[in-house]
Amino acid sequence: MRKVLFCPPTYFEVRDVKNPFMQPGDPVDRERAARQWHALRAAFQEAGFELESIPAVPDLEDMVFAANQTFVGKSPTIGRFIVPGHMRHHSRRREVPHFVEWFRQRGYKVVELALENDYLEGHGDLLWDVDFSRIWAGFGFRSSRGGVDSFAHAMRELGLEVVALELTDPTFYHLDTCFAPLTPGAVLIYPGAFSPSALAAIRDKCPRVYEVTRDEALRFVCNGVSANGRFLLPHLPASVAKALDCEGLQPVLVDTSEFEKSGGSVCCLKLFLE
Ligand code: ARG
Repeated sequence: MRKVLFCPPTYFEVRDVKNPFMQPGDPVDRERAARQWHALRAAFQEAGFELESIPAVPDLEDMVFAANQTFVGKSPTIGRFIVPGHMRHHSRRREVPHFVEWFRQRGYKVVELALENDYLEGHGDLLWDVDFSRIWAGFGFRSSRGGVDSFAHAMRELGLEVVALELTDPTFYHLDTCFAPLTPGAVLIYPGAFSPSALAAIRDKCPRVYEVTRDEALRFVCNGVSANGRFLLPHLPASVAKALDCEGLQPVLVDTSEFEKSGGSVCCLKLFLE
């Protein structure tokens, strides 16, 4: 059974502005956040996943977004591995060692990249295709081009394909805010978030590209997650319902309103483990 890792929202808050969704002074209701987080875990469990947790750490207010600190992979040569991220914001860099330690204790190899002045933000920008045939890698706002290039080089050595995608709209600061793999050959995107060459690469690799409007994307529909024939997402506009129907995916609505105040929803709150 596939496993999925979460970090509880014990210390979650909106403290500073790291992305355009965040407004300090828009207080988080932690009890409500906790209820939403438990319901999200339950939705993954109902979709057939085994749940794992990493303890929250005081003062790390964004650690609840467990997708961003590491990239998790599996290769025929080295088996299960992680690539630790180098987060753009200082406050979030402190989250990474806690995740690296969690994985080390469970026997994952750690593939360290010399990122120095480059950035890589885990599965915020690095998304496995649903059939694990390739990794889509966004860059421009959080992960840098150099960060994605180093990552692509290391993955190529492990026999894994990386498709780099340039992001051009600062509102859609992570790839998972504007791009969601649905089924093999199908993705859901907000096209306005990508450079022309990124859009061409997506269309070249995917026979079925479903588009959403900017307003729909602002409601985090592209932050939905394909999970065992279901698609877990926070809102369901008619266009997305139609796309999911064409792909044979069952929509599952989950309320993530407290986390949206910080610029995150379903995809940001979970980390799939290989
Ligand atoms: N407040 C967090 C940040 O700006 C949200 C991260 C959301 N994660 C994601 N995968 N998009 O870093």
